[in-house]
Amino acid sequence: MEQENQKWKSSRGFILALTGAAVGLGNIWRFPYMAGEGGGSAFLLLYLAFVILLGLPLMLSEIGIGKVARNTPLASIGLIAKKSNASSSWKFIAYLGLVTLFFILSFYSVVAGWSLAYFGKVVSGEFLGKSPEQVGQIFGVFTQDWKLLLACHTIFMILTMGVVASGVTKGLERLNNFLMPLLYLILILLVVYAATTDGFSTAMNWLFYPKWENLSWKVTLDAMGHAFFTLALGATALMAYGAYMPERQSLPKAVGFVAFLDVLVALLVGIAIFSIVFTNGLSPSSGPGLMFVTLPIAFGKVDGGSILGAAFFLLLLFATWTSSINLAEPMVATLAKKLKSRLKATIFAGLGVWAFGILSALSFNLLAKFYPLDFVLPEKTIFDIVSSIPSDLFLTIGGLLTGIFAVRVVSKNDMLKVLNNNERFYGVWKFLVTFVATPLLIVVLFMGFKNIFFS
Ligand code: PHE
Repeated sequence: MEQENQKWKSSRGFILALTGAAVGLGNIWRFPYMAGEGGGSAFLLLYLAFVILLGLPLMLSEIGIGKVARNTPLASIGLIAKKSNASSSWKFIAYLGLVTLFFILSFYSVVAGWSLAYFGKVVSGEFLGKSPEQVGQIFGVFTQDWKLLLACHTIFMILTMGVVASGVTKGLERLNNFLMPLLYLILILLVVYAATTDGFSTAMNWLFYPKWENLSWKVTLDAMGHAFFTLALGATALMAYGAYMPERQSLPKAVGFVAFLDVLVALLVGIAIFSIVFTNGLSPSSGPGLMFVTLPIAFGKVDGGSILGAAFFLLLLFATWTSSINLAEPMVATLAKKLKSRLKATIFAGLGVWAFGILSALSFNLLAKFYPLDFVLPEKTIFDIVSSIPSDLFLTIGGLLTGIFAVRVVSKNDMLKVLNNNERFYGVWKFLVTFVATPLLIVVLFMGFKNIFFS
């Protein structure tokens, strides 16, 4: 049943690919500004709870399904449903996943492209000696330059599709090997710098000391959506990688390790960014620009900041690249089966996502005042909508259905096998999906959306 003979050669290759999928804009760019808007610790603690309670059991479910059926997500779900005499409507999970990935990749590529431009800016010393206000202005001027944004978006899509076209296991294994560890090194250096600034203790307090007065259903839903986004969970992207997993590798170990690294990156970035925010009297809730107006302040101040900054944006580019490859894989693998050509599939999917992504790039300039869903989502640009609704709504619904499918449709035998034939572990997993993840997801989704749309 194996498709196109793709498989990672080693456990290490698979873990790196999974980490590559998880660690990306979600940790480095999205987490800080979401936490900033959600009031810090309330968002952070909820997000951690969701990673553990929902993320771990549902990652096991999603990757497990891929490993059991070893096919494209659409075909995997179809095959398993057929084998268990279940309805073929379960394929809805895969279709929803494809739509979600299309939306996410479209804005993802735009923001990931910013790291290209910012790499150029740090290398040319644009931030040296600049005040925090000036660094903020640089971001403002940059996002007005729609031609540049489009160029960055285009280059990033070409990079992504270039790797996907040659098959992810081949393309990625080469790319992944030494760059991930370097990213951790840079982040630790940033945190070391942050620890020397005046705002460090305020930042730590703001991030970790529980302030439940900031709690709301909206923040809870955001934290839940973000847990899915950052783990790459709920859109069958992990299922696609599960299909290429080495047979003998332990799934629970891989999942635990990857979720841990993913959270670690977010925490390191959060500590660095909010120390800079509080040291320079900036606002934590300044939105999607937060990372791009905080870290360059540090790069402009410290000795060797240009080198550190250049390395940072290069590694950010790399981290987003490995995530976007994962975002694209289910679309391309599914289309490739239909079109009988991976190259054609890559070109089709790439062009579609690229074209739609243009709307996100223009949301910062030409379309900044265009609010297509003003009646339900007032004053939200296309970018605002595409970067929030698919993760808060589609990923979480996808994850919910995936969990139910794994528990009810996948045979116990198959699921037990991917959980290392450990009966006790299987029992815990099944309990968590059925009695913790499912009800929790339903309540948060319902209350969160009631709050967004009817308040
Ligand atoms: N997890 C990725 C990130 O944090 C984004 C992603 C979402 C990737 C969904 C695949 C699927 O950047």
